[in-house]
Amino acid sequence: MLAPPEAPAAPRRPGRRRLLVPAVAAVVVLAPLAWLWQASLLPGTYSVTDMGTVDDGRGNAGHAGHAATAGGRSVDSLTEPSAGPADVRVELVAREEPFRLASGEETTGYTLNGTSPGPVVHAELGQLVEVRLVNESVRDGVTLHWHGLDVPNADDGVAGVTQDAVPVGGSFTYRFRVHQAGTFWYHSHQASHVQVQRGLLGALVVTPPGGVGAIDALALVHLYDGTRTVNGRSGETPVAAAPGERVRVRVVNTDNAPMSVWVPGRPFRVLAVDGSEVHGPGEVRDVAVEVTGGARTDLEVVAPARIDLGGASVLVGEQAPPAAPRPAATLDLLTYGTPAPLGFDPAAATRSFDYVIGRSPGFLDGVPGMWWTINGHLFPDVPMYMVAEGDVVRMRVENRSGEGHPMHLHGHHAVVLSRGGVPAAGSPWWVDSLQVADGETYEIAFVADNPGVWTDHCHNLPHAVEGLVAHLMYEGVTTPHRIGGPNTPE
Ligand code: C2O
Ligand code: CU
Repeated sequence: MLAPPEAPAAPRRPGRRRLLVPAVAAVVVLAPLAWLWQASLLPGTYSVTDMGTVDDGRGNAGHAGHAATAGGRSVDSLTEPSAGPADVRVELVAREEPFRLASGEETTGYTLNGTSPGPVVHAELGQLVEVRLVNESVRDGVTLHWHGLDVPNADDGVAGVTQDAVPVGGSFTYRFRVHQAGTFWYHSHQASHVQVQRGLLGALVVTPPGGVGAIDALALVHLYDGTRTVNGRSGETPVAAAPGERVRVRVVNTDNAPMSVWVPGRPFRVLAVDGSEVHGPGEVRDVAVEVTGGARTDLEVVAPARIDLGGASVLVGEQAPPAAPRPAATLDLLTYGTPAPLGFDPAAATRSFDYVIGRSPGFLDGVPGMWWTINGHLFPDVPMYMVAEGDVVRMRVENRSGEGHPMHLHGHHAVVLSRGGVPAAGSPWWVDSLQVADGETYEIAFVADNPGVWTDHCHNLPHAVEGLVAHLMYEGVTTPHRIGGPNTPE
């Protein structure tokens, strides 16, 4: 009983009772909320290795702060093993400043060597690349992440996880050998939802020795102040090619949302997805290709041709066809191309994980809202996927959150096994940035061959800020870096 029963004869002195009941009700409602609020508060700084729930991929879950990592190898020691001088050396100077797009519009944000997008970093397959990042004036600090390249963990560029953000006046040198020819990009992984949007990014292209046997063109797409650009140019971007010449156009989507790409009135092929060649890419026409946030697609067209990118276009050769609306059909990569060996056996998986994306009301670091959940929990109470070097890993990525998400795993390339239970039947579909639409379930697999602590997050970067971030961690690896303070990776 909350209070003694009251005689009905005393209606004229209601004061205390009338106040008491709502007060008790308020406590009953607010106390658990206050507890939830308080429990959601993140410490000033924390190690990513103390975060969340350990999932060993064998049916055991436990709390983080793992003994497994005690006395382990530091991520700082997981560096490029090749000594000697680099084949490609680049210095990138980051600044926070107003600048002009290649097409003349004025904007403000971040530049590398005075431009945004920054310089194209180009290497040949097998070369050793060294990039020195210098922060001249980015007040929040800066890093560079090599999106899609499976670099050593110490060079992954995630502030608070694999390095500290580089302060104004500081520098950091990244060093890695490129083991895969393809289209990649780089961007800051410090305050990334702001810095990437405001231009702290560029393309990284790795070509096979002798080139790609066609005209090689880049189409890095980015929205500046809501205007879609290709290589920093709004409107139409020309690519010189004689009639009949084949052109490889490397489309990079550096924005948060998926983008449709189509080739009006001409056949084309999809040569590569996320830096991996498609096996047996057949000619298609009158279909759009979806390139999600962070993803890349290399198209082959024959001049003259036009590539529409939903608000900007690439004109290949003279007399390209006129713009046309997006075709209704979308190319399905689950069946595109022809099968080829994967190089490993996903049926022999030694770990299997669920990455189920949902949405729920709650507190995120004390802020009430509707936040993303992973396996039913809010950040930071999300899974820490544990693996050991050599594991074959399967992951089921299921989206029940009401919105689509471009899911990006660092440091590894995963192959799509199935979507909605339907097995992949085309070329091996290797991804590092996979659009998982609401209601979809993908099964993917990869080999754990790159030790470290690797972020596995949504590349719609504001969603990452809203908690859609988990990590893949190798047993015996630890990090001295801490999230919080100067390090805010998302
Ligand atoms: Cu393109 Cu975690 O990033
Ligand atoms: Cu998302």
